[in-house]
Amino acid sequence: MNGTLVTAATGTVGRHVVTDLADRGLDVAAGTRDPDRAGDVAAGATAVAFDFERPETWGAALADVDGLFLARPPGVAVGDVTAFVDAAARVGVEHVVFLSTLGADRNPLLPHRRIERHVESAGVEYTHLRASFFAQNLHEVHGRDVRERDEIFVPAGSGRTSFVDARDVAAVAALALAEPGHRNAAYDLTGAEALGYDEVAARFSTVLDREITYADPSVPAFVSRMRSRGHPLGYVLLIVGIYTTARLGLAARVTDDVERLLGRPPRDIDEYVRDYADRFGPETGATTPGEEGRTVADGSGTDPGR
Ligand SMILES: NC(=O)c1ccc[n+]([C@@H]2O[C@H](COP(=O)([O-])OP(=O)(O)OC[C@H]3O[C@@H](n4cnc5c(N)ncnc54)[C@H](OP(=O)(O)O)[C@@H]3O)[C@@H](O)[C@H]2O)c1
Repeated sequence: MNGTLVTAATGTVGRHVVTDLADRGLDVAAGTRDPDRAGDVAAGATAVAFDFERPETWGAALADVDGLFLARPPGVAVGDVTAFVDAAARVGVEHVVFLSTLGADRNPLLPHRRIERHVESAGVEYTHLRASFFAQNLHEVHGRDVRERDEIFVPAGSGRTSFVDARDVAAVAALALAEPGHRNAAYDLTGAEALGYDEVAARFSTVLDREITYADPSVPAFVSRMRSRGHPLGYVLLIVGIYTTARLGLAARVTDDVERLLGRPPRDIDEYVRDYADRFGPETGATTPGEEGRTVADGSGTDPGR
């Protein structure tokens, strides 16, 4: 095997794919639009300039690469991703591990399914990782509500969600890239249980040792709060759509793929909250890195699922 290019290498999943592959001793190129800024994320790997929207960056990023971790950043056109897949196949990439979304196989209109289908016919081998809702959305998108108001503020009603930890998704990606037996396969990656947000709040309360409640806001209340924080309307409506899916009970499917593949149970919400407790306050006035600011600043957002 030559090297592996990880796209979205500074993202929620990609950063862990980079470290997992580097830990396995593999040659990793961490693709980012700004390699200077990506220094510590790419520890043990080489940061390379890569932009789906700038084909002139593709050749150097794909040099000596035969494995590819592919994630479509929020806001990047499907056509830019598929053109890049074609370029990768042309220069000898053999295996593409694509970060897709749970249920993509049942919705041909989803961008993820369109990319899956393109990868399947691009002359490469593929592994689709159809991931459920990342636990990490709870700090990347909603951490401020927990820090400032001791509440989880999402319009999901009483619908349940089979949260998966992004670190487990990355571990499966690294496994699929590094070891044989995962080519031309699709995995449905979920946690071991589906929780309603009242249960999520109860877990937060126990782990953080202070009471966190589930506010169960109406859609207008949610839109109003997100807009008051400067999030673009399109982004807010996208999130509302995702939580509507949960509200309707369509985000609750649980599989055993993570346990089967990794040989251990998936990380649960308790472990997630413990590991990210510093993101959940209580508010001290200190700035908290890596969440809503990025969403507002770059207009694309941390995308909870689509
Ligand atoms: N959140 C969920 O619950 C969930 C669940 C299932 C599937 N997904 C899917 O996961 C994918 C996103 O993965 P993620 O959450 O790990 O990523 P992410 O945290 O949203 O990060 C995306 C990364 O892409 C890079 N990027 C942005 N624009 C780019 C461009 N034009 N060219 C190249 N790189 C660019 C950015 O890094 P630089 O600034 O360093 O370039 C950024 O760190 C989406 O397709 C989403 O639908 C999400």
